[in-house]
Amino acid sequence: MKRIDAIIRPARLNFVKAALEELGYGGMTVAEVKGHGQQRGITEQWRGREYRVEYLSKVWLLIVVKDSDLEKVVDAIVDNAQTGEIGDGKLFVSDVQDVIRVRTGERGDAAI
Ligand SMILES: Nc1ncnc2c1ncn2[C@@H]1O[C@H](COP(=O)(O)OP(=O)(O)OP(=O)(O)O)[C@@H](O)[C@H]1O
Ligand SMILES: [Mg+2]
Repeated sequence: MKRIDAIIRPARLNFVKAALEELGYGGMTVAEVKGHGQQRGITEQWRGREYRVEYLSKVWLLIVVKDSDLEKVVDAIVDNAQTGEIGDGKLFVSDVQDVIRVRTGERGDAAI
């Protein structure tokens, strides 16, 4: 199993969510977060003065998928989160050792 931590634009969340539901992924964790990437935020003008906005609002999606679904889920997220502008976000993929559904005690793929 793989874990995808996706940091995306808040405005793209509904599109990504719809695409994941179409692939049969209902289970996910969503959090509103702040962060910055390689540009370290943006510079804004206000009343003729420049100031730095260090952290920008993003949405953090945590999704655990079967190994065999990884590529299509990654594609669905990228296709629906991408605007082509800086700040589109990032996906981190890592291995998951086990998943346990609390209600039933099921484990592994069956518990996703
Ligand atoms: N290396 C990183 N580690 C952890 N979080 C990151 C990392 N890079 C980006 N993020 C998170 O992703 C968000 C969006 O990053 P962003 O899209 O600006 O990445 P980038 O590398 O600067 O790419 P771009 O040049 O397209 O802006 C950040 O606000 C931050 O929350
Ligand atoms: Mg950036």
